Amino acid sequence: MSQAAQKSPDSPHRIFTEKTLIVASHNQGKIREINELLKPFGIVAKSASELNLDEPEETGDTFVENAELKALAAAKASGLPALADDSGYSVKILNGDPGIYSARWAGDHKDFALAMQMVECKLQDKDAQEDDERAAAFICALTLAWPDGHMETFEGRVDGTSIWPPKGNNGFGYDPIFIANGYDRTFAEMECGEKQKISHRADAFKQLVDACFKAS
Ligand code: IMP
Repeated sequence: MSQAAQKSPDSPHRIFTEKTLIVASHNQGKIREINELLKPFGIVAKSASELNLDEPEETGDTFVENAELKALAAAKASGLPALADDSGYSVKILNGDPGIYSARWAGDHKDFALAMQMVECKLQDKDAQEDDERAAAFICALTLAWPDGHMETFEGRVDGTSIWPPKGNNGFGYDPIFIANGYDRTFAEMECGEKQKISHRADAFKQLVDACFKAS
């Protein structure tokens, strides 16, 4: 068994012992945030785009299925452990839409102003005015896959409200229309470090670290 395939005797999870990891994403916003999260662990992260790895089609019906297929494809293609996230914006009254279609709502031109407008139009069609009618969440499935096919997957979320008009210039995607519960500014009005403390990605990442990264 390789070093990377070790399991701690008191944990059902595989422990990550490598120094290099592929971040299986071509989304610069996500790569930046994942790199920030990995920094304290001294892990060298290379992105799928740096290595010219193809992006597999997201054919899954859930965040978990898509995260797993992306991580596995990158791990097998690179021969290194790979970390993939599948995430999205989920509005309760819209039956969880745009959900796994969050990137696709922005179209080929990645027009998130348009995608946010679509969310708002659908909320207005439902006459959603009160905060509880505008409940939304960011959800993130995070998978660490090894070239031998072993995978560890964790799901994180952050709940809040979908607001209009969009506010703030930081972050990416749907950040300008999301206010997390207990806060009064959108994710796009927060500094990266502030969002990282409470985000869906940070929540999933914490679970991954607790399960698979050895405390130093
Ligand atoms: P995918 O996981 O690559 O399919 O894309 C997820 C999409 O969800 C992104 O393109 C964003 O539109 C949206 N999304 C995921 N995480 C965030 C976030 O932290 N802020 C804003 N939008 C996000």
